[in-house]
Amino acid sequence: MKQRLFSGIQPSGELHIGNYIGAIKQWLGFQESYESFFCIVDLHAITVRQDPAKLREQTRKLASWYLACGIDPEKSTMFVQSDVPAHAQMTWVFNTFTQMGELQRMTQYKDKSKQHAENINVGLFDYPVLMAADILLYDPEIVPVGEDQKQHIELARDIATRMNNAYGRELFVLPKYVGQKEGARVMGLDNPEKKMSKSAGSEWNYILLSDTADVVAKKIKRAVTDTDTVVRAGDDKPALTNLLTIYSMLTGTSIADLEKQYAGKGYGDFKTGMAEAMIAWLAPLQEKYAIYMNDPAELDRALSRGAQKANAVAQQKLHNVYQVVGLGR
Ligand code: TRP
Repeated sequence: MKQRLFSGIQPSGELHIGNYIGAIKQWLGFQESYESFFCIVDLHAITVRQDPAKLREQTRKLASWYLACGIDPEKSTMFVQSDVPAHAQMTWVFNTFTQMGELQRMTQYKDKSKQHAENINVGLFDYPVLMAADILLYDPEIVPVGEDQKQHIELARDIATRMNNAYGRELFVLPKYVGQKEGARVMGLDNPEKKMSKSAGSEWNYILLSDTADVVAKKIKRAVTDTDTVVRAGDDKPALTNLLTIYSMLTGTSIADLEKQYAGKGYGDFKTGMAEAMIAWLAPLQEKYAIYMNDPAELDRALSRGAQKANAVAQQKLHNVYQVVGLGR
């Protein structure tokens, strides 16, 4: 039997190539060898205020990107979190197995309550418990996520251990955090010291999967470079290391080979080549994305099928937990 994998992304904004390289590309590598659950975590998204129509649209967009990128709904389970009620139900049980102090220590909560000081709602505080429910409902062995989510996985393991001990049985598999591979961390184009992010404040920071060829070319042209003029990666060259990493990840050409290809050439040639490669890589992806976005019935079918598969697993686990806790019949 295959081991399981669980991961998810919030439908709270447009996907950029950092999300692709850091998350989705990694998932694709696991898809064959793990029974995978890829979730669109809309319940998490509403912990910060969302426009309702836009949230629903972004959920469909994210599902379309999952499919366009190569998530195969025949091999994996792709679903929307709010389509599976057990996530919210399990969260309630887990709330009673989580201490206030544990959540108060979560660095993402501390950061987000500074960012959203006008709306520090209970959901924002409880976010890691919902995430623990997401994961533990499916007994995954691995959870590939960004480094910033490691603390949340540790909380999920603590809750699982606590409940396993309380009821003297193996209710839950302990999930393992799997970080991004070396070189999968994509930094901002305008600031190679910080992770590429939609909330960076400038559109020159990121390339969206939906950016047009024109915009891609402009953004790469504007990307910051290092003070010398050599196309080479290295600790002393954060900007070129980042550009070469992205270039290499999308084309499959090694950084060493790219360095050779651009030996003796300047940043101008390099950026032109990189923009061409990026545009060529994005074109078929955007075509597939448009096919799903233009066929709402087909997308609905894929999501309904995913919800059905996820519900079957999640309901069984919730039932087992209700049994030991003393809920239900
Ligand atoms: N909190 C995760 C993030 O912001 C998203 C997420 C929610 C998630 N539930 C999950 C990731 C379960 C992995 C597993 O990136």
